[in-house]
Amino acid sequence: MLSLSHLLLFFLISLYSLSAYSTTLSLSPTAAPPPLANPWQRLAHLATASSTRAHHLKTNLSATTKVPLFPRGYGGYSISLSFGTPPQTSSFVMDSGSSLLWFPCTRRYSCNSCNFADIDPTNITTFIPKSSSSAKIVGCRNPQCKWIFPNVRCRECGKNQTRCNQSCPPYMIQYGSGSTTGLLLSDSLVFPDKMVDNFVVGCSIFSNRQPGGIAGFGRGPESLPAQMKLKKFSYCLVSHRFDGEPVTSDLVLDTDGAAAARGRGIKYTPFRKNPTSVNAAFHDYYYFTLRKITVGGIKVKAPYKFLVPNSDGKGGTIVDSGTTFTYMEKEVFELVAEEFEKQIGKNYGRAAAVEKESGLRPCYNISGENAVDLPKLTFHFKGGAKMALPLADYFSFLDESVICMTIVSSSGTEDGFGPGPAIILGNYQQQNFYIEYDLENERFGFRSQVCK
Ligand SMILES: *[C@@H]1O[C@H](CO)[C@@H](O)[C@H](O)[C@H]1NC(C)=O
Ligand SMILES: *[C@@H]1O[C@H](CO)[C@@H](O)[C@H](O)[C@H]1NC(C)=O
Ligand SMILES: *[C@@H]1O[C@H](CO)[C@@H](O)[C@H](O)[C@H]1NC(C)=O
Ligand SMILES: *[C@@H]1O[C@H](CO)[C@@H](O)[C@H](O)[C@H]1NC(C)=O
Ligand SMILES: *[C@@H]1O[C@H](CO)[C@@H](O)[C@H](O)[C@H]1NC(C)=O
Repeated sequence: MLSLSHLLLFFLISLYSLSAYSTTLSLSPTAAPPPLANPWQRLAHLATASSTRAHHLKTNLSATTKVPLFPRGYGGYSISLSFGTPPQTSSFVMDSGSSLLWFPCTRRYSCNSCNFADIDPTNITTFIPKSSSSAKIVGCRNPQCKWIFPNVRCRECGKNQTRCNQSCPPYMIQYGSGSTTGLLLSDSLVFPDKMVDNFVVGCSIFSNRQPGGIAGFGRGPESLPAQMKLKKFSYCLVSHRFDGEPVTSDLVLDTDGAAAARGRGIKYTPFRKNPTSVNAAFHDYYYFTLRKITVGGIKVKAPYKFLVPNSDGKGGTIVDSGTTFTYMEKEVFELVAEEFEKQIGKNYGRAAAVEKESGLRPCYNISGENAVDLPKLTFHFKGGAKMALPLADYFSFLDESVICMTIVSSSGTEDGFGPGPAIILGNYQQQNFYIEYDLENERFGFRSQVCK
């Protein structure tokens, strides 16, 4: 999720948790636990069983882990991850636009404005640190604290060391449409076939507009790919028409680059860094170089300043799984919208009422048409890789007779060219593509593929 409030329109995803996946309590590799009267004894038993299994898992690490990715009605894709001893399962929005992982945490967790369509805000699954024997609060002196607070200053320990236990300061993360705050924990991240110890995860006790967790897959040291030392990760996003249905695709996490080679036909473009020192958040984003945008083969004359980030951190293009509809800075958006209008406006009537209501545009009334013919939208990247979007990725039916372009822009000022990326490739425009973040080779790969 981008931390730029001006970017966030009501389309952009609101985050919440998938509570359908209940806590996994037993990792017991052998017999069922003996019936114990005391719940603490039972917990201790589970913990022992879990660490036995953990030892087993750690001696046989597989290079590739697959995690099911669910299309969600709020516009994102979620994964379930388990933390702790014994493991507790939480749902996270898979977000390549931020880096920290956090979950709703403790029984006191509270969330403001968290009424979303298909979730009960009074029944959010929370992680309970006290129920995990491996959960620790990250201390101020722990180098992991510096991931989030590079300039943290800790108190002197004092002669008898009593003041050494100061915790890392509370974090507060501002997303485009909300925020979360809590304390950093370290605990084990547990997969069916492997385990990562001392994984830093945010224990959020208060959030605004996101009652579920977020799994940051960005470029920061605290992100899941960084903490797991992934060489690459990839996904193929099933269509949003399956939102809320138990239709999934795999999120693939690879720790071995060679084993991760994934077939032919993948086109690559190098990642690039945002040169700015103004805002560290921009270093978390996956920038790449968009050379041009074409609509029906006609080049849209987007000024260079939008395509490449400058030293103030303005401009450039990023890919973000946590943004729903691709965002374009107003000037670029208008050029794209105008080119569509120029090419198809004579064939179909504009549906102005729907535009007003939905905030999307242009929208066309196609009632009575048997087939709709629309120009191809193609992104051309550095190195020659071309991403020709399937029609469903950039024009969507709002009802049976109206289609709207599913790209959004800032609604604000005309010259509102703020800091941060000018173009954000959202997940809607990644549907039915195999997408690869090749971290080892610093490049973004994609291939047209039906994900479901
Ligand atoms: C709360 O969520 C759990 C887990 O998803 C579910 O089993 C339970 O029925 C829910 N309770 C209510 C009151 O909705
Ligand atoms: C290690 O994992 C692989 C793949 O899951 C499995 O085939 C193999 O039997 C495992 N080896 C041990 C010693 O558990
Ligand atoms: C540690 O030192 C402080 C004063 O610096 C003192 O009040 C406290 O009792 C000491 N604690 C221990 C465990 O020695
Ligand atoms: C500091 O932490 C250690 C280990 O976590 C613990 O044994 C010790 O009692 C703590 N000291 C204080 C003053 O809280
Ligand atoms: C679309 O056009 C048809 C006929 O041309 C009209 O009946 C219908 O109301 C229009 N729909 C919208 C949403 O404008």
